[in-house]
Amino acid sequence: AKIKEVEFVKSSARAKDCPKHDRPEFAILGRSNVGKSSLINSLVRKKDVALTSKKPGKTKLINHFLVNKSWYFVDLPGYGTLANQLSVVSQVPDCRGQGFGDLRFAKAPDAARMDWSAFTKGFFLSRDTLVTVLLLVDASVPPQKIDLDCANWLGRNNIPMTFVFTKCDKMRAGKGKRADENLRDFQQFIKDNYRVPPPWIMTSSVTGLGRDELLLHMSQLRNY
Ligand code: GTP
Ligand code: MG
Repeated sequence: AKIKEVEFVKSSARAKDCPKHDRPEFAILGRSNVGKSSLINSLVRKKDVALTSKKPGKTKLINHFLVNKSWYFVDLPGYGTLANQLSVVSQVPDCRGQGFGDLRFAKAPDAARMDWSAFTKGFFLSRDTLVTVLLLVDASVPPQKIDLDCANWLGRNNIPMTFVFTKCDKMRAGKGKRADENLRDFQQFIKDNYRVPPPWIMTSSVTGLGRDELLLHMSQLRNY
């Protein structure tokens, strides 16, 4: 599970510009500012492999990072910013169809209203090297509809996911019990809505909580 080296490969504006489908990929998805880029830096133990910012909307393209010359981290733009709401995909093609049946979302409301850019969706629907989506959820705020919509959309399209709760260090820093309740609410939602709930892992890019657990989980999914 150890990360020995990581190199930035390229930024792509469209799914078809991404590196060819030659290695397993882990895509990092979540609301703007949830800590996607920070999580990558924390996992690879480097401060600025992926660029981060206090302001939402920092990552604007699909960024591939090659780890140990054998698999990719894919850093993606967050959803939930104005820029990402401009191109709404009104119809979600159901083109994955097979596999991952157990992870399928059971109660799927209309997910066609998911509002993040078409190019990000194009990525998910076209990458057959995608091992799993790490769907990041901020543990320090109550469950957000847009995160649930995103989980629905992935489930409907049979895209495997792992829930990664971020900013778990904030649960102790003052917000206390309320943050625990937020997390419990979200976990209850997962249990209520999946026949087989996707795995979830609690993390903090500040303290390193969950880092080893997540890397081990990812190596098990890759089978090496
Ligand atoms: P976009 O690229 O805009 O979609 O954002 P992102 O999801 O990549 O978030 P980013 O990693 O840039 O982090 C956003 C802010 O949250 C930064 O100020 C980070 O320092 C902070 N942050 C990220 N992870 C954590 C964490 O685990 N704990 C705390 N306390 N802050 C965090
Ligand atoms: Mg980012």
